[in-house]
Amino acid sequence: MNDMLQKIGKIGLVPVIKINNPSHAVPLGKALISGGIPVAEVTFRTDAAEEAIRRMREELPDLIVGAGTVISPELAKKAVAAGASFIVSPGFNQKTVEWCLENDVPVLPGINNPSLIEQGLSLGLDVFKFFPAENYGGASMLKALSAPFGSVKFVPTGGINANNLADYARLDSVLAIGGSWMVKSDLIDNEQWEQIAALCREARLKLQGFSF
Ligand code: 3PG
Repeated sequence: MNDMLQKIGKIGLVPVIKINNPSHAVPLGKALISGGIPVAEVTFRTDAAEEAIRRMREELPDLIVGAGTVISPELAKKAVAAGASFIVSPGFNQKTVEWCLENDVPVLPGINNPSLIEQGLSLGLDVFKFFPAENYGGASMLKALSAPFGSVKFVPTGGINANNLADYARLDSVLAIGGSWMVKSDLIDNEQWEQIAALCREARLKLQGFSF
């Protein structure tokens, strides 16, 4: 597995961020670091994403910064040019995956069925986002889905929070758990950095005892 993805696996959590104001990028990144989750998936759901990635990357060397909601190779290129170290997509777009592989950029395409996993394996991938996790059957579905694929790892995301994250954390096939519950947009918009750090700490505590 790629080194960057291994690092994310050690952290065990991937905050999924929707940021409206680029000036929030650095204080948000500091809150993540202080909360013990030095990783940010900044989604391309707002115009601020590119600049937010740039600022986090330039000013916070201890933060792993990636891009989410990357739905085309063009967007992947833009994200990487801004400083993204990994790419996440909601679905499986072969063109995006191929661009990332050709450019040595770790990529986590979203999957929800075995055929897509096989498609990814044939391109050389060994880590996928399982999305939207709760709607597609949650941890029990992921357990069944991962059973035939031995060493393949997953980052379940979608509908996960502090109350159900342990269901996923106990699965060997889970590399890390993604979600927006600790970085909700209203917390970011209202500059609730302490609250964000506290939610990160709470999530970290919930992972204690599991192997991350
Ligand atoms: C994503 O893009 O990964 C999801 O929107 C995150 O899902 P959540 O908001 O339910 O955590």
